[in-house]
Amino acid sequence: MKREDIERVYAELKELQCKTQKEVEEARVRFLGKKGEITALFEEFRTVDKDMKREFGRTLNELKNTAQEAIDRLREAVGFESASEGPKQDLTMPGDPMELGSRHPVSIVRQEIVDIFRKFGYDVAEGPEIEDDYHVFEALNFPPNHPARDMQDTFFVSVGHPNPLLLRTHTSSVQVRTMERMKNPPIRVICPGRVFRNEAISARAHCIFHQVEGLYIDENVSFADLKQAILLFAREMFGPETEIRMRPSYFPFTEPSAEVDVSCNICHGKGCNICKGSGWLEILGCGMVDPNVLKASGIDPEKYSGFAFGMGLERIAMLKWRVNDLRHYFENDMRFLQEFSTAVEV
Ligand code: PHE
Repeated sequence: MKREDIERVYAELKELQCKTQKEVEEARVRFLGKKGEITALFEEFRTVDKDMKREFGRTLNELKNTAQEAIDRLREAVGFESASEGPKQDLTMPGDPMELGSRHPVSIVRQEIVDIFRKFGYDVAEGPEIEDDYHVFEALNFPPNHPARDMQDTFFVSVGHPNPLLLRTHTSSVQVRTMERMKNPPIRVICPGRVFRNEAISARAHCIFHQVEGLYIDENVSFADLKQAILLFAREMFGPETEIRMRPSYFPFTEPSAEVDVSCNICHGKGCNICKGSGWLEILGCGMVDPNVLKASGIDPEKYSGFAFGMGLERIAMLKWRVNDLRHYFENDMRFLQEFSTAVEV
């Protein structure tokens, strides 16, 4: 046995090229098969002098391993040309499913509302979730002893300060900030965002929910404008047949105030368990901005008037998809969320 023989096989291995599995198999037979070149070298090895055996033995084993690795690598690289070569993988196996994300129902509803009011010329404004008493209550004409200012209803972050920090209980605070910033009407803005109230969590109440509130201020804005804006919105949101009904209500920051119901688009007014037999569903609160509120933000109530409205997004999502437990919206249960992966309209 000569060193050159081993070198030659190394050189051949280096040159080795295969295009198909068949060629790889031929190469394997040529080097490692029963009559292969390396097998032959092992045969020859038997005749090597005793004192050389150790060294040749190691060199030959290295050669054999190198050849095996080269063959494995080639087999990996060429892939399969035809079915007759036998697939390494079962191509009939189902693939890994591709998980598609889906938008949260509250995000879907918010986007729809924002899109509708954008068409009406409203801008979108956002503000801080940790607010101060002034922007959530004081500037909005809440009397000092109003129950919302109580620890029972509001999460306070700091107390014992004349203007304590708290988690906003409505996004009306963003409307105050918008008025402060813009000063000069016309102002047309909607404020989507997360709000917090100190409520026990149940199917019908949660300590976190989402709102879109809106504000329109200009010269000669009247209650009729408010009614028209809400009607147009309701028809865009719930369908062209939708009717609205306004009931007198009270909010510190609006006068007069109203609560708005839309006709039940499930039973079309006949009465069902969603509208509790009344044919109407309550969706928002609204009213004409109280002059005190305009004044507090530096807008002249003699010259300007305006309306405001606010609605809860979970409530609208509940009506839209008839999910009657608020907790579903906050628990991130994939089985619930995936139901909305293709949801666009009812
Ligand atoms: N801010 C009120 C709420 O949180 C909603 C509202 C907004 C009512 C504007 C009237 C006008 O419930």
